[in-house]
Amino acid sequence: MLKVILGKPFLDEAMEELRALCTLIEVDESETFYEVVMRESDCDVIIAPLGHKMSSEMISNCSNLKLICSDGVGYDHIEVSAALKRGIYVVNTPNVLTNAVADFIWTLILCCARRIIEGLEFMQAGKFIGYDKRLLLGKELTGATIGIIGMGRIGEAVAKRAKGFGMNVVYFSRTRKRKLEEKLEIEYVTFEELAKRSDVVVPIMNYSQEVYHLFNKKVFEMMKKDAILVNASRGKVINEEALANHLENTSTFYAGLDVYEFEPEINEKFKVLKNVVCLPHIGSATKETRYKMAKMNIEDILLIEKGERPKNLVSEYR
Ligand code: GLV
Repeated sequence: MLKVILGKPFLDEAMEELRALCTLIEVDESETFYEVVMRESDCDVIIAPLGHKMSSEMISNCSNLKLICSDGVGYDHIEVSAALKRGIYVVNTPNVLTNAVADFIWTLILCCARRIIEGLEFMQAGKFIGYDKRLLLGKELTGATIGIIGMGRIGEAVAKRAKGFGMNVVYFSRTRKRKLEEKLEIEYVTFEELAKRSDVVVPIMNYSQEVYHLFNKKVFEMMKKDAILVNASRGKVINEEALANHLENTSTFYAGLDVYEFEPEINEKFKVLKNVVCLPHIGSATKETRYKMAKMNIEDILLIEKGERPKNLVSEYR
């Protein structure tokens, strides 16, 4: 039986399936993921949880290691180059979460555009005394422009939903998608143009050093004063201090955030500002999707057990 380290638990149904097929080492609160990996150096598989570094030191510590699974679609927490060098596979969980994440991004857009959280707080504070035509005025999305950075699967799903809302879609991406431009009637622009023209801005690209602090003071100053920035990709795409200052100084600018530069810490200003909606990294959190994501990791572990190549290899292996 393979020895598998699981950094963070799966849903119960998937836990049962995983336990049945391997010797499972679960990381609990008494130890860190790092400590368990360094101790269980004869493990065959590591399911590396998002937000916990899987460093080259940890990789080279495990001499039997054959497979590292990211438990999400992002895998910027894994040092893929170190795994590649040692012939260790790295897999992730693409496709199955596309719709859940796109729906969630739209939830954040709508929460910001229609000031939903402020409305809830208003009700819970007992402040509602009747219909008021000036109360909590938001932003109309029909006819407005959404700018999407990264036109991968999730970017495309966000764009399709935007079309359903009657929005103009502009995008910026490393690779231009001309066929998609025609099919969805979306327009390719530079990042600067996107920042200047968009009412709603959504970065949803794979994280790499290249996009570290893509959103910074200079970019916030270029953006519309009443823009909405929604981030469910990786926190480091945004200079969080600069965003907090911008939100504080520009009450018409809104941010919807699911990920943070120093996760799980969040900027103190986000705890009090009204023009930010903060959620706890739940972009793909539907029961169906989280189960499918776990199943993808399990399928790849089964392939390793049979001595076969895993299916959901990250792009560096293709
Ligand atoms: C979530 O952030 C993921 O990468 O799946």
